[in-house]
Amino acid sequence: MLTVLMGEYQRAYERSVADPEAFWRAAAGLIDWVTPPGRILDDAAPPFYRWFPGAELNTCFNALDRHVDAGRGDQPALIHDSPVTGALTTYSYRVLRDEVAVFAGALRRLGVTRGDRVVLYVAMVPEAVIAMLACARLGAVHSVVFGGFGARELAARIDDARPRVVVATSCGIEAGKVLPYQPMLDAALDAATHRPERCVIVQRPQHLFELRPDRDLSWDDAIDGAEPAECVPVAATDPLYILYTSGTTGKPKGVVRDNGGHAVALRWSMRSVFDTAPGEVYWAASDVGWVVGHSYIVYAPLLTGATTILYEGKPVGTPDAGAFWRVVEQHRVTTMFTAPTAIRAVKKEDPSGALLRGRDLSSLRHLFLAGERLDPQTYAWASDLLSVPVIDNWWQTETGWPIAANPRGLEPLPIKAGSPSVPVPGFRVRVVDGTGRDMPAGEDGAIVIDLPLPPGCLPTLWGDDERFVRSYLTAYPGTYLTGDGGRLDEDGYLYVMGRTDDVINVAGHRLSTGAMEEVLAGHPAVAECAVIGVADPLKGQLPRGFVVLKRGVEADPIGLEEELVAMVRAQIGAVAALRRVDVVPALPKTRSGKILRRTMRGIADGLDEPVPSTIDDPSVLDRLRPVLVNYPAAHGSEGSAPSS
Ligand code: COA
Ligand code: AMP
Repeated sequence: MLTVLMGEYQRAYERSVADPEAFWRAAAGLIDWVTPPGRILDDAAPPFYRWFPGAELNTCFNALDRHVDAGRGDQPALIHDSPVTGALTTYSYRVLRDEVAVFAGALRRLGVTRGDRVVLYVAMVPEAVIAMLACARLGAVHSVVFGGFGARELAARIDDARPRVVVATSCGIEAGKVLPYQPMLDAALDAATHRPERCVIVQRPQHLFELRPDRDLSWDDAIDGAEPAECVPVAATDPLYILYTSGTTGKPKGVVRDNGGHAVALRWSMRSVFDTAPGEVYWAASDVGWVVGHSYIVYAPLLTGATTILYEGKPVGTPDAGAFWRVVEQHRVTTMFTAPTAIRAVKKEDPSGALLRGRDLSSLRHLFLAGERLDPQTYAWASDLLSVPVIDNWWQTETGWPIAANPRGLEPLPIKAGSPSVPVPGFRVRVVDGTGRDMPAGEDGAIVIDLPLPPGCLPTLWGDDERFVRSYLTAYPGTYLTGDGGRLDEDGYLYVMGRTDDVINVAGHRLSTGAMEEVLAGHPAVAECAVIGVADPLKGQLPRGFVVLKRGVEADPIGLEEELVAMVRAQIGAVAALRRVDVVPALPKTRSGKILRRTMRGIADGLDEPVPSTIDDPSVLDRLRPVLVNYPAAHGSEGSAPSS
């Protein structure tokens, strides 16, 4: 497959395929173990595979203590740069280790032990990172819930993870607004059937949480007098965290990350993909609630002994579209990582890059972009402006680190705009047709990865092996179904063109149309509904809802739209960005009753969408067409089109 590329990348890739155990045994040397790996891969029970069975380590020790022991105690580990509050706080490795040890002691005093879950519902504050690492220190399992999610999403995660303790911030700060978290947390705990024993609240001066004495205590009270906790050795195969992600149904999937494979894969990726060395400054402008934040704000930079930046701000508006360049200059960032939508937001506000002029960005070696497809125009704009390689990389919450990338630390390969380059060593990526046969180069199909997945990828879904197998491993036995479609070209470069299921990507955020449909269907006037993702020039995609009213129900369409939008905002969260819901007489369906969402999406995106032969009543689609196509002229956000 990889015919023309020779060199260090090609050699590493072939080694990873020919002898994965030798390959990952060598990479495991980058991690400190309590019990070093003997066997590398447990493949006794396919399709379940476990990396480093029998080995023991502590992820927090690898992220903090070992760097202090090795003389990096005074080096900055974490810089909290918060233009929304004006705070700028630097934690050295020693200080961060000590604060994490104390909070781990506080959690232990609240009864948290190895294997217990702790849900974090947090803004981008240092306590978020401290709490994650404190869980890792105890061998407890954290589950961070993105602050932009609403009560229903939070409740679903609490019920699935069954945490002993919840840690929350009293508020987030978004676009100049202080957003109290208490209404969401109280509503989620009222709705959930599981009761955590305690909630620890980080009281931010911008808005105080009204503590309920029977349930809540402040962070300060929690740590008061707490004994610092030592690192608890755990099995490499023990869970480090659960991160819920959107599937095609309303029930989120609890992606499990183990300790050993995760540490090895992330540390290896920093060297081989991100070309970042200990002591350098790495900045992922994402949020700790997403996988990019878990992997590349918290764990990978710290496992490496680099300095990481926790940026509590936006690409624009905090205070302006020069914010990214200010942070790079001020902290001498060597490697930056964000989502294409963030760059499109900057480009929209400052198309000529005027706010970059006069800034010294000489420290910056690379800009990495992921979370959605990097459209060629955004690629070209960023690389012209910055004069550094702009590196698209493709991955998912499930994999935890890039499946395809330009492996800058192994061998910088030529960049092809529109492609995240080549499969990363360890990932045997194929593009297949409906029967599982390889597609010829250049032709589109489903993207799959041969099992076993490399270290760091999900071993299962939390408490649901059956759903794990059904969702990912049954469509094409022996492979993992990514849910993305695309193609490989004759040079082995991958092109990832979008999801083949009902997951949508809004401003780099992965959301489930199924979850939004469940909320719309809950309105008493609604008989049936569909939510689709339509192309949006700034956010990549935006959701649009269509509802059919119950027989005999009359509703003012504007008032109903407002109610439905408010319901989705309250239950799923503001981040869903559902702003338009149309009342329609009927939804187009197949004869077997399946709503033709893909056809609706194609028409809305202005594609020459064929009408499937299985359609039940073509006149329904004909009547819907004008409603579908008059978007985004009326409602769309502005910006340069992310089409290729
Ligand atoms: N807590 C509470 N609310 C949040 C939130 C959080 N952590 N994050 C977002 N929201 C809210 C926003 O305030 C906004 O609410 P509004 O409807 O009242 O304005 C809504 O959710 C949508 O937010 P967002 O998606 O951020 O859109 P935006 O229009 O405010 O900003 C971008 C657009 C492109 C600037 C922004 O989406 C962005 O920076 N994206 C980068 C994406 C990213 O980092 N992805 C992670 C993968 S790498
Ligand atoms: P998440 O699990 O939130 O990281 O979202 C993963 C999904 O985002 C993938 O399945 C893709 O659909 C999309 N995605 C992420 N990165 C890229 C990329 N570089 N190119 C194309 N799609 C991407």
